[in-house]
Amino acid sequence: MRPFHLAFPVNDLLKTERFYVDVLGCSIGRRTKRSINFNFHGHQIVAHLVSEMPNNTGDGKVDGKKVPPFHFGLVMEYTQWHEFREELIRTGIDFRLQPHVRYRGKVGEQATMFLNDPSGNAIEFKSFKDDERLFATVDGKEHTAGGGVIESESSK
Ligand SMILES: [Fe+2]
Repeated sequence: MRPFHLAFPVNDLLKTERFYVDVLGCSIGRRTKRSINFNFHGHQIVAHLVSEMPNNTGDGKVDGKKVPPFHFGLVMEYTQWHEFREELIRTGIDFRLQPHVRYRGKVGEQATMFLNDPSGNAIEFKSFKDDERLFATVDGKEHTAGGGVIESESSK
């Protein structure tokens, strides 16, 4: 599998560096006065300094919980996710969305938690008991990916 690349806005490079290195365990690659490259579990993510952060609140819900429309993150191994959750709890971090299980008992059951970086970007860490379920759908019902029903605009 090839690494993905993601560029994202931040409003404070120093705080960004501390968070991605100290909390998320990233190492640092190239950096300039306005950007920092991080090694995020083998993937290249680049923080770019901006003067004003875009609004990332929104009101979308996933399995009944409010989820920011823009977020990125990592699908961890099951035990790795639980160890990381305990580590974060020990540090006393404020979760954006507390660790919980969504789609419980359904094909897309997954453990998930969200953090905010210092600029307010949302980062999701999730895990499936069975990684094969990552893109699983209910047989014959592709519209129910994740075990939920995707509403069409007309059904709202
Ligand atoms: Fe997500």
